[in-house]
Amino acid sequence: MADMAEIIDIAADHGRAIARGCAVLADGEPVAIPTETVYGLAADATNSDAISRIYEVKGRPRFNPLIAHMSGMTMAERHAMFDPVSRRLADRFWPGPLTLVLPLAPTSGIHPLCTAGLDSVGIRVPMGFAGELIEAYGRPLAAPSANTSGKVSPTSAAHVDADLGSRIRLILDGGAAGVGVESTIIKVEGDQVRLLRPGGLAVEEIEALIGHPVVRQEVAGATIEAPGMLASHYAPEAGVRMNAATVDNGEILINFAGQRIGGADRAAATFDLSRSGSLREAAANLFAIMKAADRLPSTGIAFAPIPRDGLGEAINDRIARAAAPRPEAPRPDAPTLETKDAT
Ligand code: TXA
Ligand code: MG
Repeated sequence: MADMAEIIDIAADHGRAIARGCAVLADGEPVAIPTETVYGLAADATNSDAISRIYEVKGRPRFNPLIAHMSGMTMAERHAMFDPVSRRLADRFWPGPLTLVLPLAPTSGIHPLCTAGLDSVGIRVPMGFAGELIEAYGRPLAAPSANTSGKVSPTSAAHVDADLGSRIRLILDGGAAGVGVESTIIKVEGDQVRLLRPGGLAVEEIEALIGHPVVRQEVAGATIEAPGMLASHYAPEAGVRMNAATVDNGEILINFAGQRIGGADRAAATFDLSRSGSLREAAANLFAIMKAADRLPSTGIAFAPIPRDGLGEAINDRIARAAAPRPEAPRPDAPTLETKDAT
């Protein structure tokens, strides 16, 4: 039998969660930690062996840049250089579900394995326990979502345990992640504020602060309306359709706000991301419901249409990735599309 991860309930023993977390991190091993967005697989961002272990545990084939999580602005300023707009965003939205891509400070000890050798770094200050752990540890933590590469991100310690429990030493259990989708990634370039990934902070909130529109990133001309252009990701085992007007025989329906969907009575099972029509609640429920649906026998998963405003942008982005064609053995001449959240 494989070794099982130690799981510490943070609410039951906060001091031990911090102490064990710091000890395992100092040992160069990754630790699964709760953040307000999703659970992260965290390792010392200054230690190349520790970062390599993240890739190994996730089975992540490529070395993509990882987000460096900070305890606060003081630590962030040691590692990155802030332009005035990024600073305003940080002042308003940190701690919280916002990642800023910034020029790496020359004296930063963040390892090139974390930045993928770029001269920029993605930085985020997470809310709650994760921030406290980083403060206690005293160094930034690199942390992608705590799941096997290509799978749906975990929003509970039980999700992490089911997926990675035999491959990691420690899972710190902080209950269900409140936001439920990964952070919004922003890069300020000159007078443009560019959206690199929609996420748990609604773009409208950013636009309200900066007073002008955020520039959406185009992936080789693809938009969310052309999910076939997006590399498959967040993939459940079952096939996924989005914006379903009707349910096919044997499909599971994932609804939103109790919409009337044709053939719903034929559904193998029905879930609703938020009966009351709250996009916040829908984001918080999205990954857990995808995992629950995926455990049931079905011919596929059909998502009802979900509004695209507010957190609906991130929800539709994640569903589009889940619905994108799965990578088969790629043709050697096939163009490859790097997307922003390859794991
Ligand atoms: O909510 C989140 O952001 C979660 C939790 C654990 O904090 N983390 C997360 O990390 O989603 P990850 O590794 O899945 O997302 C990292 C993404 C990369 O794929 C890349 O798109 C972007 O962040 N990124 C990081 N550094 C970057 C850089 N220097 N330039 C451009 N993009 C960068
Ligand atoms: Mg991920």
